[in-house]
Amino acid sequence: MAVGIIRVLISLYHREMQNLKQLVARLPKAELHIHIEGSLEPAMLLELAGRNGVKLPYPDIDSINDAYNFNCLQDFLDLYYQGMSVLQTEQDFHDLAWAYLQRCKQQNVVHCEIFFDPQGHTERGVDFATFMQGLGSALDRAESELGISSKLIMCFLRHLDEQSALTTLDSALPYLERIAAVGLDSSELGHPPHLFSNVFKRAAELGLKRVAHAGEEGPPEYVYEALDVLLVDRIDHGNRALEDSALVQRLADENMPLTVCPQSNLRLGVVSDMADHPIRKMLALGLNACINSDDPAYFGGYVNENFCALIAAAGVTKDEIFQLVINGFKSSFLTQAEIQSHLERIESMR
Ligand code: ADE
Ligand code: ZN
Repeated sequence: MAVGIIRVLISLYHREMQNLKQLVARLPKAELHIHIEGSLEPAMLLELAGRNGVKLPYPDIDSINDAYNFNCLQDFLDLYYQGMSVLQTEQDFHDLAWAYLQRCKQQNVVHCEIFFDPQGHTERGVDFATFMQGLGSALDRAESELGISSKLIMCFLRHLDEQSALTTLDSALPYLERIAAVGLDSSELGHPPHLFSNVFKRAAELGLKRVAHAGEEGPPEYVYEALDVLLVDRIDHGNRALEDSALVQRLADENMPLTVCPQSNLRLGVVSDMADHPIRKMLALGLNACINSDDPAYFGGYVNENFCALIAAAGVTKDEIFQLVINGFKSSFLTQAEIQSHLERIESMR
């Protein structure tokens, strides 16, 4: 008798999981935290290495997957910078972004705001025009062929100095029409946001929005600096803000978006178990969090897989899924009219 009841409960539980995963697949979504260089799948890594004559320390896809066993941000970044060395021509950048945008289509991601790391390319001798034209043509193609809207966010590498970031911003001047915002990424610890105050001020004067990775590995103080010194419109990650209740209250009061990346958090040791991921706590505290993939080729999944991991391990509910998806659109750099039209579609699916 008891065994029978347990079987029924288990099957109901599985059915509910399936329903929630199907809901995620059906809902139109926005992705606001994706590094295009982090969408370089192992198969394309090998293909581009062959095309460009780049020697990699991996003979095949299995050995790449074996190598991706980092457990902190720096170990990951070492592989990430090595991986991007295969990106050399305009066509390479086009192919990379086009592959990501096709994934978006499969996953019903209808709007994306894509990070790119110019210094990761210019430092290797790749021209600004090469990646801007390659990425730009893929974005245009996605708009016309796939009906996906997108924006570019130019990130400064924080392990380099502010002068290098200022030079990068200068090089971007001919392409400003293409760039919606600037961001700050790479090794967080030891590279606090205030070191980039001048380049973010200049970006603001140029009319660019501003975002910054903060509170991924860095302490709450870095989140304060991103808010108070860089005057950001969004915080990327922000997990460690939870250590400071006054900061949590402020982020909630200001409705500051947090672009959260669950599978990245797990793979980089920001959380030790997906079951302990703080996303539900964030929502319960009134934080404006949304779900993103960060570097999907390295962390095991795109947006839908990130939602599914949270559903399976952390018990995210239907209402929470709607809230997270709505937050993604509301936190985007789309116009109010565009956001409204996405929200109406989502509300019609409740
Ligand atoms: N660059 C690519 N992914 C990153 C991450 N998760 N944190 C900081 N910099 C990054
Ligand atoms: Zn990131």
